[in-house]
Parts: sequence; C-alpha cells; structure tokens
Amino acid sequence: MTAEDPRILKLRAMRVKSREGGGPERIEKQHAKGKATARERVEMLLDAGTFNEIEPFITGPTDEMSLATEKFLGDGVVTGYGQIDGRIVYVYGQDFTIYGGTLSEMQSHKICRVMDLALRNGAPCIGLLDSGGARIQEGVKALGGYAEIFRRNAQYSGVIPQISVMLGPCAGGAAYSPALQDLIIMVEKQSFMFLTGPEVIKAVTGEVIDAESLGGSDIHMSVSGVAHLAAKDEVEALGLVRKFLGYMPSNNVENPPFQANGDNPMRMDEQLNHIVPIDPKLPYVMHQVIAAVVDKDSFLEIQPAWARNAIVGLARIGGHSVGIVAQEPAVMAGVIDIDASDKMTRFVRMCDCFNVPLVTFVDSPGFLPGIAQEHGGIIRHGAKLLYAYSEATVPKICVITRKAYGGAYVVMSSKYLGTDVTYAWPSAEIAVLGAEGAVNIMFKKQIEAAADPTKERQTLADEYREKFNNPYHAASTGYVDDIIEPRETRAKVIAALSALRDKYAPAPPRKHGNIPV
Ligand code: HXC
Repeated sequence: MTAEDPRILKLRAMRVKSREGGGPERIEKQHAKGKATARERVEMLLDAGTFNEIEPFITGPTDEMSLATEKFLGDGVVTGYGQIDGRIVYVYGQDFTIYGGTLSEMQSHKICRVMDLALRNGAPCIGLLDSGGARIQEGVKALGGYAEIFRRNAQYSGVIPQISVMLGPCAGGAAYSPALQDLIIMVEKQSFMFLTGPEVIKAVTGEVIDAESLGGSDIHMSVSGVAHLAAKDEVEALGLVRKFLGYMPSNNVENPPFQANGDNPMRMDEQLNHIVPIDPKLPYVMHQVIAAVVDKDSFLEIQPAWARNAIVGLARIGGHSVGIVAQEPAVMAGVIDIDASDKMTRFVRMCDCFNVPLVTFVDSPGFLPGIAQEHGGIIRHGAKLLYAYSEATVPKICVITRKAYGGAYVVMSSKYLGTDVTYAWPSAEIAVLGAEGAVNIMFKKQIEAAADPTKERQTLADEYREKFNNPYHAASTGYVDDIIEPRETRAKVIAALSALRDKYAPAPPRKHGNIPV
C-alpha cells in the first residue's frame, strides 16, 4: 500500500483545524447555550450534501496593526454555496466561537465575496448572523468592512433576494446589514438586535436594561417593526428561509416559481357570501377572507404582530405566488396609520422588485385622524404607500370588500393608481367619507335649522348611504371594473392573474425616484 502523500495529509489536518472554529471549548459553550455552530446551521439550512465552502483558510488579522492575539482559520465566518429545493443559494454564517462572530477586515472580504457571487449568478444571498458587531481590535478596518457590506446590500437590493437570520446577539453593524435586506427572521429568546448594547447604555445613561427588553424578537416583531418573522428555535427559523424562498424568484429577471397543488382554482367558498355583516359597524376577520381565497394553507404572513390593522404576506393562488396586502377590520377597524403605511409600502415594493403580483383587499375607513398621527408625519408615511402602488409595475388586482373611504380608496391600489383589475363586493362602500361624517359637513346648516336635527341627520345619512355606500355608483362611473359575489373571488382573481401574466408596463427612464421616506 502506498503511503499517503504528506501534502494530502496536511490538507486534511488544515480542514479539521478550520472546522474547529474557535476550538472545542468555545463550541461546547455555544452548544451549552442551545445554539448550533455556524457550520451546523449552514448544513441545516441547505439541501443535504449540497454545501460547498469557500475561503475556509482565510485568517485575520492581516497586519500587526490589530490588537487581536489569536488567528483562527476562517476568521469567524463560514461562506459558500449550496441548494434550497434544488435552487442555488449563497450563504454566510457567522461563527460566534471566533471573537464572538465579530466582523473583521477579512470577514468582510469573505462576506462580500459570496454577495458578489450571488449577484453575478442571480441567486439569493442568505446571512446567518451571530455577532458582536465590529471587531473592536480591528478598529477602522472593521468599520470599513461593514461599509463594504452595506454598499452591496443597498446596490444588490431588488436584484437578488437578501435574507438575514438572527441567531444570537447582533449588535451595531450586525443589525444594520439585515435592516438593508428583504427579510429578517429572529429566534425567540435567543436573538437580539440593537445598535448599542446594554453595557454601552449603562455606561452612557446609567440605565440598566436586559438584551431581551432592548431588542429581543418580541420587541422587533411587535413594537419596532424591524423583524419580519420569528421562530421558536433555529430549526424553525432556517425552515422559514426555505419557505420564503419558495415564493420568490432567484433574481429580478426571473418569475417566481410555480408550485402545483391540488386546490381547485374554481373553488367557491359559500361562507364568503356571508362574511361581511349587514351592519357596517360590525367587524369581521379579513384573515378568513384571505384564507378562503388563496390556495389552501399557502398564506405566509409577514410581520403578523406589528401594525396588525394592516395585513401583508405571500401566498399562492392557482399555484402562482402573489403578495397579499389588506386591512384587518377586526383591528382598529382597519384604519391606516403610520406603521400600517410603512408595513404595506415596504411589502408592495418587495413584491414589485421580485415580480410577485399584488392582490389587495380593501376595508378601511381611511387614515387615522388626530394630532399624534399628523405630527408623526402621516402625510409623509401615507405618501410612501401611494408612491409604492403607483410605481409598482407587477400585475395589480384589487378587491374592495367593504369600506373604501377617502384616502383608503385612493391609496389602496385604486384603479387610477394603475391597478389592472378592480373588483368590488356588493357590500363595498366607496365614498369620500362615511355617511354620518359626510352629512354633518355637507348639510351642517340644514341639520341645525331642522325641527328635529337628529332625525334630519339620520334621514340625510340614509339617503347618502343609499346613493354612495354601495359599489354601483363607482361601477357606473368606471371606478371599479366589476361587482362580484364574494364566493367568486378566488376564480376571478385567478382569471385576472392569468390574463395579466405577460403584463408589460415599462416605467419612464430615470436614475431612480425620490420616495418620500
Ligand atoms: C471583539 C468581541 C466583541 C467585539 C464580543 N467579543 N464582542 N471581540 N469585538 N465587538 C468577543 C468576546 O471578547 C468573547 O471572546 C467572545 O466574543 C464572546 O463574547 P461574550 O461577551 O463572552 O459573549 P456574550 O456574553 O454572549 O455577549 C455577547 C455580546 C457582548 C452581547 C455580543 O460581547 C457585547 O455586548 N459585545 C459588544 C457589542 C458591541 O457594542 N459591538 C460594537 C458594535 S459597533 P472570547 O475570546 O472570550 O471567546 C458596530 C459598528 C458598526 O458594529 C457601524 C454600523 C453603522
């Protein structure tokens, strides 16, 4: 038997060393916290046996200017490519066992390299983050490294899907790079996102706060709106990446993948004909409408716990991906406020850049009135939503289920914002204001002068409702395309989507627009 070539043996030894990351003790510490290592996570994410690592032998720091004492192979990040459901993706996973997964100059080079490969090859780029942010010992080189990443995050935005899974503490730049991407998934009680951590806050302000209360998944899912999805553990979080990508194309010149399923496109759900209460003041649950219209169990809601008066999410209808945007009349009557505007705007733009058609369900009394909203800049925030719908060139279908008052009618994918097909249910109320508010303004003097002002107001409001609070006035003037029975919605949306599949709507040439952020 021939003795093994020493050069091969050296390679094998180097590979073992590289896979050890920060060493067995730190790996043990990571496991003791219930956390997987970077390599284990990459393997969990990808189709079995498809991961190919690149640049495992890179070490940092590159020169003696750094205070770092130890050099580790890989320098705190595992990078490479593999497959998800047979489609190529690029991935980087920060290795917390090496300087807490912090970003060094060389780590930045490695991350930028997979980002560049992902862009050139039109494939999604997925980051698995677990990092203390900029590596302090590397000083400005770490900060510059983040700038390299942020620039790519911004320039590749809308070209390839970029996803971040937060798997540990993510401080400073480790929070900002995800914020520039399409999707942030957090793990409950395990991942934290903040620009300045508890230690810094204590030093600067004296305030004592724990990481969970500062930037845990509950905060970012329900208060700040920074995160899009949360999972109970790492396995579920990585599964959500795979699920999300199932709705998305690999890049902006592909269409989203078609996934056949057994749900009958002509299915009519009789309960939809009874879902909107006769009394317009009573709520119903828009989530039930969505579930009845889309392919069975296909709705993946994004940001479900933030701005719950608005609903956004991906679904399939007739096997094709769609983006659903809606109001939830069961929460704050489906009013549009600042957070709801931001939530819907960002989602509309994400769907538009990745060729995902938009289906909008409208039931909203309009923008939320009041000082807090006006002073908070609701004009600016609502304008973003107008901008996003007007700019979007993907197929746009709108279904008005009930209230489409004032701004809500216009903003929510109205026909003359460029919506391709607009349907109204018989329960639709399309008007500038609700009946009581409208007659109070239009007939103020007449009501005051009446012998019985209450009765007069009531009579006028009934007349107003008769005239405007139905879809026939809007249909007679062409402001909606058709009035449909609610149970027909699924079939009508599927027919519209197939009629719009080859939509061609080039925008006028420009460098880029100036969205009112
Ligand atoms: C270098 C770091 C580090 C850092 C952690 N480590 N953060 N090394 N630079 N920023 C190292 C620790 O020394 C330790 O090394 C290992 O990582 C694990 O850290 P621990 O503190 O033991 O872990 P834990 O208790 O879990 O706490 C993790 C942590 C905490 C919450 C991330 O370490 C922390 O608060 N770090 C500082 C966070 C921060 O303020 N970063 C700067 C952000 S500014 P050993 O050898 O013991 O394993 C930034 C600028 C970007 O990022 C600009 C954006 C616009």
